[in-house]
Amino acid sequence: MEVVIHSSLAELAVATADRFEGAADGRLQRIGLATGSSPLPLYDELIARHRRTGYLAAVEFFQLDEYVGLGGDDPNSYRQFLLEHVLGPLGLPAERLHAIDGAAADPFDEADRYEAELVAAGGVELQVLGLGSDGHIGFNEPGSSLGSLTRVKTLTATTRSDNARFFAAPEDVPHHVITQGVGTILRAGEIIVIATGAGKADAVAATVEGPLTSSVPGSALQLHPRVQIHLDEPAAANLARADYYRETLLARPRLPDPPR
Ligand code: GLP
Repeated sequence: MEVVIHSSLAELAVATADRFEGAADGRLQRIGLATGSSPLPLYDELIARHRRTGYLAAVEFFQLDEYVGLGGDDPNSYRQFLLEHVLGPLGLPAERLHAIDGAAADPFDEADRYEAELVAAGGVELQVLGLGSDGHIGFNEPGSSLGSLTRVKTLTATTRSDNARFFAAPEDVPHHVITQGVGTILRAGEIIVIATGAGKADAVAATVEGPLTSSVPGSALQLHPRVQIHLDEPAAANLARADYYRETLLARPRLPDPPR
């Protein structure tokens, strides 16, 4: 994993947005998007660049996860989050987002349908991820199979409490979700993880320097040949090898790898 520690969120936004330059000549066509506050500086930078060049006009976007029970028009659905923060400001139609239907009559069938849709599309060349404070990626909570595919998961109390700030009342946070699996995520050609703030410091250390374990689903990213994790100083605070990472000579963005 390439670990990149930034002195400001503005610097993080520029460095992560640079990985999307392949979209300018059509080499990057399918991008997976995470929700949450961590990727917002990146998304704002992508929107600013797109307004100058239009380079994301032909890209297809894929959702990472969704709450079971919330329809795609619900203001708390992750589909709405991505339309509001990414596709809308990019001026792209909602159909450009491959969405998970949290209100599907059978969420288990919907998970299978979405996994098949991703495979049929050829997978994503680039996947954006955040990191849960318990080390989850997508909504793959601790204990998730490291080979898992898109499926229904139950949220931990920690995650429901972390995400309660977006809902009118804590009890409104759904208990169940549909999420791309760890194995699904690992098929992406390249992965960018963004984690910021002191609340992520333990999860970051366990993901980057801890053992490979389903107890920290983010640690599965150690198996992927092309992962960058972009951090601010508070999120990097518990890394034993922080000084070493600061000396890392980063590879230039290059041709996207095809999905695996
Ligand atoms: C949710 C999402 C994750 C996201 C995480 C962190 O649990 N399912 O995809 O990474 O929140 O969110 P934030 O970036 O707001 O801390």
